[in-house]
Amino acid sequence: MACVLAIETSCDETAVAVVKNRHCCSNVVASQIPVHQRYGGVVPEVASRTHVETINQAIAQALVEAQLDWEAIDGVAATCAPGLVGSLMVGLTAAKTLAMVHQKPFLGIHHLEGHIYATYLSEPELEPPFLCLLVSGGHTSLIYVKNCGDYEILGTTRDDAAGEAFDKVARLLHLGYPGGPAIDRLAREGNPKAFPLPEGKISLPSGGYHPYDSSFSGLKTAVLRLVQKLKQETSELPVKDIAASFQETVTRSLTKRAVTCALDYGLNTIAVGGGVAANSGLRKHLQTAGANHNLRIIFPPLKLCTDNAAMIGCAAADHLNQGHRSSMSLGVQSRLPITKVMELY
Ligand code: KG4
Ligand code: ZN
Repeated sequence: MACVLAIETSCDETAVAVVKNRHCCSNVVASQIPVHQRYGGVVPEVASRTHVETINQAIAQALVEAQLDWEAIDGVAATCAPGLVGSLMVGLTAAKTLAMVHQKPFLGIHHLEGHIYATYLSEPELEPPFLCLLVSGGHTSLIYVKNCGDYEILGTTRDDAAGEAFDKVARLLHLGYPGGPAIDRLAREGNPKAFPLPEGKISLPSGGYHPYDSSFSGLKTAVLRLVQKLKQETSELPVKDIAASFQETVTRSLTKRAVTCALDYGLNTIAVGGGVAANSGLRKHLQTAGANHNLRIIFPPLKLCTDNAAMIGCAAADHLNQGHRSSMSLGVQSRLPITKVMELY
């Protein structure tokens, strides 16, 4: 049974965890949200500096909470791609240093593979194949999970990620950062049918629309136009109705694509990951559609859906068990498709 100390610093969370196969022994997440809030979004230089200031404390805390010392650790892992280069460097350098000092194997982990492995932490008995709907601030993907390191991207966004769309619409409604939770809260009190908004569709050269790909930039522009029009007509913007209509459009569209994809590929389980998995509309629509089509829908607890190191450790433990190791010369990459995971070993 592989026991891994894992580090995740790809964006704005400094996270360290100790994981034994699919069991989480500790999961420390130092969020930088308050640091970036005053800028209205993540500032890369500030993020990497804050990781440097926080990481040693987070590593020590993860070991204390796991009640384990270095004797018990079989490997050290860190997210190496994709993400903010300066932020990734901090975690990767820390992991390599610890691996060298304690003479343990080192593994670089793909961030999206980590999001997939979050599902195993809450459902340790689950085995591939299944479909993963990954909806975060940086990614919107439908991933066919075949095995450890073996993935196929079946659907993606052609422009903004789902979480990015929530954040941008929240900004134009002056709701602060991050916008997803604020829109979700307001949407609960609004009418989702108040304003019909366009669902982004991707035309195919052969005619018709791509069944699994999404687009959110047109929707964002439609909300902007709606807000401009309403501002001319009324003194008080119906923010709750706008939030509810926007959320309804995004979550219906994601649900439709995920369910169609699972049915087309004969997959009976959809695992959801990423920060947007917290969205109440997405949860409601997917659970209902899942029940109607006899699909199992798994939403891991939110702490495992948003960025954390436990998911990275869980992926690393599986790779370690398979005999995979990364070279000490492995670098960070801001972009790397999940289909290229095995290049890291
Ligand atoms: O996975 P995550 O924590 O970080 C990334 O890897 O990006 O996702 C953050 C994103 C943000 O865009 C945030 O607005 C969105 O997840 N989010 C939500 C909700 N909670 C967080 N979006 C919609 N509804 C929510 N309740
Ligand atoms: Zn993420």
